[in-house]
Amino acid sequence: MITIAYHDSTGETEKQDRWAERLSQRLGPVRLVALSSAEAEQADIALVWSPPPGRLRQLGALKLIVSLGQGVDHLFSDPHLPDDVPVVRLVDPNMSHALSQWVCLVLLDYLRDGPAYRKAAAERRFDSLPQRHTEGLPVAVYGLGAIGAVIADRLAALGFAVQGWSRQPRDLGPSVQTFHGPDGFRQMLSACAVHICILPLTAETEGLFDANSFAQMPAGSYFINGGRGRQVNETDLLDAVQSGHLDGAALDVFAVEPLPQAHPFWAEDRISIWPHVAAQTNPDTAADQVSRAIQAVLDGGVPDHVVNKARGY
Ligand code: GLV
Repeated sequence: MITIAYHDSTGETEKQDRWAERLSQRLGPVRLVALSSAEAEQADIALVWSPPPGRLRQLGALKLIVSLGQGVDHLFSDPHLPDDVPVVRLVDPNMSHALSQWVCLVLLDYLRDGPAYRKAAAERRFDSLPQRHTEGLPVAVYGLGAIGAVIADRLAALGFAVQGWSRQPRDLGPSVQTFHGPDGFRQMLSACAVHICILPLTAETEGLFDANSFAQMPAGSYFINGGRGRQVNETDLLDAVQSGHLDGAALDVFAVEPLPQAHPFWAEDRISIWPHVAAQTNPDTAADQVSRAIQAVLDGGVPDHVVNKARGY
């Protein structure tokens, strides 16, 4: 029997039973116990989202930590995260698909004036606005990992001139022009009309989108964040929108989640707020990868998608 310590701070409790069922279909008998319980201290595996800092270190038999999301910043923010236990992040094509759909949705809604037409319809006005010409519009995708590469590909298929940025050089074929490093970042900031962040949160990406970055974007640019809230200086973003330099933003992630009631973003129509739902974890599609990772460590091997702790993703 494999014991898995489970914790999902998003409070989606129904998922625990689905994880137990999906994993036992693949691995044989497994038992999911609450991370906070005494039984968790015997657990072989931790399957967690945002566990209380210090708790994983108390699990003496732990062989593997699996992030219940694609990001792992919720684990690395724990100063007591055990050094000798591998951490695996989810890489689920279903989540890349969901996130790329969300990016297309918010981008096309903005470009085709969805908010203005919904307002007009609510007021029974059959008015038209001039249509933007968007064929070949330069669009920047920051982060070209498992998700960013899919987004870049789909935006290219929609007729945008896609530029992609990553830390290390990447080749995504002829439909995506790629850049890397600080110079490449600056080039893309000034060349593109739409900016999509899908980066992991690391020491290097924290605060990356600040007043200086927004000022380098052409006037009238649009900003989309499906990465992490702390990559953005939220005060600077609000200033850039309210000064009219940016046309608006669509955000799925925030420095503090849930977004506090008093946060000024709520009152700004040009900022579209999504409650961290662009790509929700799905046990039905992620269980294959997770069970393969568990089996690999139980067999004494190394699972796929182990996070490089020094790099932070
Ligand atoms: C969601 O934000 C994730 O990390 O999967």
